[in-house]
Amino acid sequence: MLTAPHPSSAPAKPVLDFKWPAEGIARAPYRLFTDPEIYKLEQDRIFRGRSWNFLCLDVELPKAGDYRTTTIGETPVIVTRDHDGKIHAMVNRCAHKGALVCLKKQDNVASLTCVYHAWNYGLDGQLKGVAFRNGVRGQGGMPSDFDVAKHRLQPVRIESFCGMIFGTFSTEVEGVEAYLGPEMAQFIKRNLDRPLRILGTHSQTIHNNWKLYAENLRDSYHATLLHTFYTTFKVNRLDMDGGIILSDEKWHHVSFARRAKLQEAAEYSDAKVHSANYESALEGPRLLKAWEEFDDGITHSIQTVFPNMCIQFTLNSLAIRFFAPRGVDKTELFWIFLGYDRDTEEQSQMRIMQSNLTGAAGLVSLEDGCINEFVQRGTRDDPGGASFMEMGGRVAESEKNSRATETAVRGFWQGYRGIMGF
Ligand code: FES
Ligand SMILES: [Fe+2]
Repeated sequence: MLTAPHPSSAPAKPVLDFKWPAEGIARAPYRLFTDPEIYKLEQDRIFRGRSWNFLCLDVELPKAGDYRTTTIGETPVIVTRDHDGKIHAMVNRCAHKGALVCLKKQDNVASLTCVYHAWNYGLDGQLKGVAFRNGVRGQGGMPSDFDVAKHRLQPVRIESFCGMIFGTFSTEVEGVEAYLGPEMAQFIKRNLDRPLRILGTHSQTIHNNWKLYAENLRDSYHATLLHTFYTTFKVNRLDMDGGIILSDEKWHHVSFARRAKLQEAAEYSDAKVHSANYESALEGPRLLKAWEEFDDGITHSIQTVFPNMCIQFTLNSLAIRFFAPRGVDKTELFWIFLGYDRDTEEQSQMRIMQSNLTGAAGLVSLEDGCINEFVQRGTRDDPGGASFMEMGGRVAESEKNSRATETAVRGFWQGYRGIMGF
């Protein structure tokens, strides 16, 4: 279906027969969530292309010899800290026959050794030793022109910003701060520009295309409808003061709300907005006990960085979520719950308690995990169909006074179309 007729005798070049609907970014063709050719192209154009991908946090590698494995798209990656304290990243693929070199999620090692034939690499990915290089008892071994310097783990370009380590395969993409743009960089600094402390992590597999999760993070429209707890207990509602800021390319965003500035809107008493009508009280009200951390009044924010991460700050619950595609209809989602080094024990406990608002035992991760799968299942037999996203207009622009809009979702598609060439 994807092979173009070719006039010459040269081998036919596969091309993608794909056209975006004329309505533009207010539509997302369902085919994008199920087509293996598009999925493959995304690996090249996005994950191995001009994007910065969140790899891990600096604080996850405190000591020399620490490593952490992750992925950029589907490419396995190792991040290490060497004996000079320097961070390195490289593809987790042995220069011999391509086996994974590091097998654990994290560890502390003197060097990296492939389990298959014991090739040994320094923490910077340079090949150091090849087992039986000179053969055994003078027999066998590598040819005399074999040069260890020519066989190393493929390096990944990295940059650190506010304690986050980003990686890219692109030599052309601008630095991370320029990639984020000034407004995005400033909001990340608000949340992360101080020593961090990891409070806990978890991960989940969601059974949907990665872009449905990328959309969902930018979908301020659903946040107070699907997540009924947020509405009922006034954690996040669209009748709070709030808005959305998009980056210049529109593919990163911040959505923010101020809980103290709630003016109850009549729309929430509409019987169909079910959560607003609950007469509920918490048996454990300390779940919502929070303190003011910033003087801008913002009590809830979600900030995305294209393609694979978000920073969430709900009351005092600070977390980084990042995700990796694991096939056209499967995505692995990772959560890192954070506090600051300066936090008191009581503050740490409050953050941990509030992680239940979104965490594994909580509400949001479960609800979003389900809903994205519902979209995957609802659309997979209709590749010619498309979603309809005109809430708040048909373009992608910042909307500083309202979140009753799908502007950030359209922004994702604008950026996606640009980098994919669609
Ligand atoms: S594949 Fe790694 S040493 Fe052979
Ligand atoms: Fe959600």
